[in-house]
Amino acid sequence: PDPGPRAADLLVWYDRHRRVLPWRALPGQVPDPYRVWLSEVMLQQTTIAAVRPYYATFLARFPDVAALAAAPEDAVMSAWAGLGYYSRARNLHACARAVAAAGRFPDTAEGLRKLPGIGAYTAGAIAAIAFDRAEAAVDGNVERVMTRLFAVEAPLPGSRPEIRRLTQTLVPAERPGDFAQALMDLGATICTPKRPACALCPWMAPCRARAQGTQESFPRKIRA
Ligand code: ADE
Repeated sequence: PDPGPRAADLLVWYDRHRRVLPWRALPGQVPDPYRVWLSEVMLQQTTIAAVRPYYATFLARFPDVAALAAAPEDAVMSAWAGLGYYSRARNLHACARAVAAAGRFPDTAEGLRKLPGIGAYTAGAIAAIAFDRAEAAVDGNVERVMTRLFAVEAPLPGSRPEIRRLTQTLVPAERPGDFAQALMDLGATICTPKRPACALCPWMAPCRARAQGTQESFPRKIRA
């Protein structure tokens, strides 16, 4: 009988191959919600390579949520200049003021979603990574992994609710933040759009697309 993919197998892989990134807590460290939040907002629509220098500079200028909340808008905008999608910076600043006024970060996905500029993906990512909540963080990379793993035939974008549900069934009660980041790493380094490195994948055995040899044909998309 096929047990299907298990979170534990992905976590073993992650412990060996995790990428070292400036916003990631090292094993055993407690993550800082401000840093997790800042990184997730910067990483929306933007590559890790582009984010890296901005993240370092921004954190040096605004080391915590109180510093960001107290800063004038133009100082925040100038620290963001060059990263693009400037509504992110305005929302970030508005968030900082809301969090500073409340005295704490919302620590659930539902609470995080109410903040300006925080959608389902970002709320799930922050809740899992910063607050150890058993939430899924489903972005385009995770959609690719899941549609291959379960050979989801229904095309994007209509299949999104189903993909979300499938992802949520895999989220472990223990280490949900590592699980979210492991999925991101798997999508970025193994389960790539072209020529995925299936032989190195911790989920090769349970992957339905791989069993059919059709991995590159997922995710299905509506033809434009
Ligand atoms: N992309 C978005 N969030 C990320 C994270 N925490 N780690 C790696 N890639 C990401």
